Formats: sequence, structure tokens, C-alpha cells
Amino acid sequence: TEIPLREQNIVLIGFMGVGKTTIGSHLARKLYRDFVDIDQEIEQEYNMPTTEIFKTYGEQRFREIEKEHILKLCSNTRLKIISVGGGAFLQEEVKQACLASSIVFFLDLNWNSWKDRLKMLIDTRPNLQNKTLEEIEELFRSRQDIYAVNHSKIDTDQLDAEEVADYIIQTLN
Ligand code: S3P
Repeated sequence: TEIPLREQNIVLIGFMGVGKTTIGSHLARKLYRDFVDIDQEIEQEYNMPTTEIFKTYGEQRFREIEKEHILKLCSNTRLKIISVGGGAFLQEEVKQACLASSIVFFLDLNWNSWKDRLKMLIDTRPNLQNKTLEEIEELFRSRQDIYAVNHSKIDTDQLDAEEVADYIIQTLN
């Protein structure tokens, strides 16, 4: 990309509930950058939680809104920390826009650790609802390829959110 490395946005991707928002907030604070969480932006714009947006407009429409937000943000900003939803990279255009404007980190967690977080996540994540644990595991596994866009995968199993942020900062230097 033509944007100097130090000026690029940092985009965090990975499955629902891996800690993109928490880690992104730490990163923003430590790097004195602004933090943007795409899901939160959409929820504010529509003044409803994502579960309601899915119910009212459907996932398809949510994806269009998500794409608009990410494309606009990526083309207009530098130096931001951006957390995108776990399904954003299903859209090729979104993936390409992020890779062209930002350093992308894939926050990974193994299935066994992730599974323990399910209870905490289910009420706010429409794509986890009305599924068996087997179906959720299948979704979790099928998404891995979508996030593997470069070599910046971070295994977060043994690290807390702040340690992940510190690790990312180290790789930037
Ligand atoms: C989704 C992930 C969510 C949110 C929406 C759909 C998905 O974001 O965008 O509920 O399909 O993976 P988080 O990854 O921040 O939970």
C-alpha cells in the first residue's frame, strides 16, 4: 500500500467475542489514537442493538450498512484503531479496503477457550442464537479461513487484553 506504515489504521478482526473491542480500546489508549468500533457506530446510527437490526432489516441489509461504514472509514482515515464485526470480512470489498488502508491483525482464540464465553455473548450476537453448540463450532471453524488474510494472526489464549495490545505495539516497532 502507498500509505506509510506508521500512518496506517490498525484493523482488528476475528470471531465474535475474541476481544476485538477491549483490545482495540487498550491499543487506542496506549498509542494515543482514536478508536472506532463499527458495530457500535451502526448501533448508534440506528439507535438499536445489532440483534434488533438483524430482526428488523435482516442480515443482508446489516452487511450493506457494515460495508458502507467500513469503506467510508478506511478511505478517509489514518491512524485510527478500528474493530470490525466478525462477519465483515465475508465481504471481499471490505477485506480489500481494509488491507489497502490498514494493518490488519487477526485475533485468534482456540475453540475450547472460546466456548466458555458463549453464555456471555449469546444475548447480543444474533448469529449465535438458535444454534446448537455443534453448529456454532462449525461456524467458528468455517470462519477461520476468512480471517487468515495475512501473517498477522495473534494467538490470544494465554494473554489478557492488555498483553495482546502490548504485543501488537511491539510488532509495529
Ligand atoms: C457478527 C459479528 C458481530 C456483529 C454481528 C454479526 C458475525 O460483531 O457484527 O452480530 O456474523 O460474526 P462482533 O465480532 O464484534 O461480535
